[in-house]
Amino acid sequence: MHKDCERIMLTEEQLRSRVKEVALVVDEDYKDKSPLVVGILKGSIIFYADFIRFLSMPVELDFMAVSSYGSGAVSSGNLKIKKDLDKDVKGRDVIIVEDIIDSGFTLACLKRMLEERGAASVKIVTLLDKAERREYDIKSDYNCFIIENEFVVGYGLDYNEQYRHLPYIGILKRSVYEK
Ligand code: IMP
Ligand code: MG
Repeated sequence: MHKDCERIMLTEEQLRSRVKEVALVVDEDYKDKSPLVVGILKGSIIFYADFIRFLSMPVELDFMAVSSYGSGAVSSGNLKIKKDLDKDVKGRDVIIVEDIIDSGFTLACLKRMLEERGAASVKIVTLLDKAERREYDIKSDYNCFIIENEFVVGYGLDYNEQYRHLPYIGILKRSVYEK
């Protein structure tokens, strides 16, 4: 385990089996469709890569990078787009793939934005859900793990752009971000 982690919350094995389980449910639900699968950079990349490999329908891949101004009204105007989609979502069934839903602000804004652009449907797939932290009225349609309110890293998730490459989800030591 990395020296900055306090303990491993989710092992590689737990991630592998649960991601597969959730992806197969999505695969079944979208079997007659051809969704646009939108990964939110950068936190979702490892989850995204594992997730899409269980899908058997025709899928197109696209990516967005966003940063939120933190809080306020759920409007697309409160989300800063750092990298936009290549594809037009009009009439498409969109699946957003995100690492974690915390307050819910980012995903609430994103979902609204894609709906305003004319997507036929927008569903959300998340690896982690800090359910007790929710402040905005948004839910993940397909979530892998509900977790306690701990700051976690690895499997794509970062602290100051570090630790994304760790193959497990670890709880970051408080001393790392409180110093
Ligand atoms: P929300 O807009 O409050 O739902 O925040 C979601 C974003 O906060 C995620 O996309 C992550 O970038 C970040 N985040 C929240 N909790 C954690 C964590 O425990 N580790 C790493 N990033 C986190
Ligand atoms: Mg993120």
